[in-house]
Amino acid sequence: MARPEPDRAEICRRFGIDGSDLPRHVALILDGNGRWASRRDLPRTEGHRRGEPALWDVVEGGLALGIEWMTVYVFSTENWTRPKDEVEFLLWFNRDILLRRREECLRKGIRIRFMGRRGRPVPRALVETIEESEALTAGCRRLNLTFAFNYGGRAEIVDAVREIAAAAAAGDIDPRRISERTIARHLYVPEMPDPDLLLRSSGEMRISNFLLWQSAYTEFMFPKRLWPDFRRRHLYEAIARFQRRERRYGGIID
Ligand code: IPE
Ligand code: IPE
Ligand code: MG
Repeated sequence: MARPEPDRAEICRRFGIDGSDLPRHVALILDGNGRWASRRDLPRTEGHRRGEPALWDVVEGGLALGIEWMTVYVFSTENWTRPKDEVEFLLWFNRDILLRRREECLRKGIRIRFMGRRGRPVPRALVETIEESEALTAGCRRLNLTFAFNYGGRAEIVDAVREIAAAAAAGDIDPRRISERTIARHLYVPEMPDPDLLLRSSGEMRISNFLLWQSAYTEFMFPKRLWPDFRRRHLYEAIARFQRRERRYGGIID
């Protein structure tokens, strides 16, 4: 018989998490799939395949704890430079995940979003599946799950600047009044709060063009574990550590 899901209080107790002070937004760079596969003499695509159960376990974990926003980096604007077979696999695999999981997301209250450029070379069929999945789950309120796909932090800022420049040229924005808020309002998901915690699996200590604007005061962690081996307990351990950090935002804490 399946064991019942531990409730939120039980998770907090077990992992030493303060349930009244959770990160509102956890961002994840799902890295290390290729190395996971290579170490087993498997094709890299097998590593990506094995990343899916890891992702859903972590998402379920976030849902059980009551995290409001999770953003996962699944394909960067630079990942097009990979071998054609791997790129093709990733495009169709992401579509396949949506088709298989979106009803479950709807039932569980998970709102699916994609952030990134949707034009060519992203296949039309994938864009259609993304749009359908977003529409299907648009009313979900428990967890905002955003896939950063064909996403680059610099591209996002460029796209925001283009929109703002067009509005300025049309006389709708006064250039002297452009502020940080103006830029934030023109990002791909304007209502997304800045991430409190960013986790990158596989031990690489870099941002690789993820959420450049939004991560100005994010806390970073680089667990060594490769993504396919990541589970919700690793998310919980990271959150407990996050809560012991002191966030200063340039100020001074008494
Ligand atoms: C992350 O795993 C998934 C994507 C970038 C799509 P990698 O494929 O980068 O795995 P490593 O870093 O080569 O091990
Ligand atoms: C970042 O990982 C992109 C994703 C995880 C989707 P990469 O594996 O592409 O980053 P680099 O090349 O190691 O910086
Ligand atoms: Mg990588």
